[in-house]
Amino acid sequence: MITWGISANSHDAALAVFSDDGLEFASHAERFSGVKNDLHLNTELINYALKWGEPNEIIWYERPLVKTLRQFRAGQGIRLGENNITKYLRSYGLSAPIRYTSHHHSHAAAGYYTSPFTEATIICIDSIGEFETLTVWQGRGDKLRRLYSQGYPHSVGLWYSAMTQRVGLKPNEDEYILMGMAAYGDPNRLFGDILNDFIDYAAAGEIRFKQNLHRGCLNWRKDLTTEQDMFDIAAATQKVYEYILAEILKYWSKLQISRNLVLMGGCALNCSANSIAYKYFDNVHIMANPGDAGSAVGCVLAHRKEHMPMPHMYTGYNIEGEYPVEEALQELLTTGICGVANGRAEFGPRAFGHRSLLADPRGADIKDRVNEIKRRQKFRPFAPAVLEEHASAYFDGPVGPFMQYTATCTDPGLPAIIHGDGTSRVQTVSATQSVGFRKLLERWYEETGCPILLNTSLNIKGKPIVNNLTDAQEFAKLYNVKVFTGNK
Ligand SMILES: [Fe+2]
Repeated sequence: MITWGISANSHDAALAVFSDDGLEFASHAERFSGVKNDLHLNTELINYALKWGEPNEIIWYERPLVKTLRQFRAGQGIRLGENNITKYLRSYGLSAPIRYTSHHHSHAAAGYYTSPFTEATIICIDSIGEFETLTVWQGRGDKLRRLYSQGYPHSVGLWYSAMTQRVGLKPNEDEYILMGMAAYGDPNRLFGDILNDFIDYAAAGEIRFKQNLHRGCLNWRKDLTTEQDMFDIAAATQKVYEYILAEILKYWSKLQISRNLVLMGGCALNCSANSIAYKYFDNVHIMANPGDAGSAVGCVLAHRKEHMPMPHMYTGYNIEGEYPVEEALQELLTTGICGVANGRAEFGPRAFGHRSLLADPRGADIKDRVNEIKRRQKFRPFAPAVLEEHASAYFDGPVGPFMQYTATCTDPGLPAIIHGDGTSRVQTVSATQSVGFRKLLERWYEETGCPILLNTSLNIKGKPIVNNLTDAQEFAKLYNVKVFTGNK
């Protein structure tokens, strides 16, 4: 029995393949089409998924009729054709029976069933599903029960995206840049203004906004125009988000449903804020792909009701061959930088060593050298990958295998991986994740005494993360960086 889970036709499409043995494959569509954040499926992705056989059924990650109703009520017009999923899938030659899961149910199931917990409080915060924008669930055994639901237009995610657009970035895409900018602004200058102008009510687990932010807030405080103003808006936005998140977490933790928290939805990608969760809960799980793409897995798990803890997220396209440990090591020792594209690609927005640009994190100039390749905003730091057992010697705060939290870096000799606020977005590496990447870090540690490598995603600017050998070769040629693929 082959079941496909699909999240598509909105933003950042993804497809997951389940057999009777469990999850066989999951990938973003963009990796196969080469179009960043591609909202649609494509033939290359579908053909790759068909390696596991034709799907007997397809599960779609949200309910299209309810979504159409919301779009109509929101004044977005009637979009019956757009939400005709049968027709949409048939356009790709897919005619298996379709079942549907509600948008937030897909989020909750993706988080709960991939967690190590058998009971938990699950909180999903995003821009918008069909109507829901914030839901809270109780997970017990194999059951999920919805405890609370907040609806459109009151949406934390829509507000954060509106603020992203207000500082000149792309909404629904650049929210992580706004989060990064926050470390360089004054959070207090505009905190009160943003709180007063946008937030109507934030207490008892409920958030109400003074206006519908679906169409942005470009007219807000038009007097703020300078670059520093933008950094200050970002800092205050982040501070208000953290205030809102803390209110939500505080309320639901006091109800003593569980000491385990699962945090999901696009807002769970806010690693600066996620660390707050540990103030209110003993254990926290955030799926490595907590946004809508992760719902390709979640919508299937919502039907299967099966626990499937995921210690790693290497479920994508496979570049065969042994992990190039020694080649990468020698290049890092010689030039300080190299790429690795080997094994199964990561499912999610981040690279964890299988599609990574790696560098020696020590020294003052490495950030500029990597930035010459990545060509991204100078204020954004790179992330460290550290041997799990050495993490506490370098970082103070929550860390994990999927870069979901920020922790204070206690070693000033690693400026390339320290953000403006003194924190790092840490990836811990254990043998249960990637044997190859772990081995490379172990060898790097043996040779240098440093258990850390700078790890950033291997992608050409403006394009998705490298997927196959051709992409890897294109990257190497364009940036004149050696990329090791494990193939002789
Ligand atoms: Fe969502």
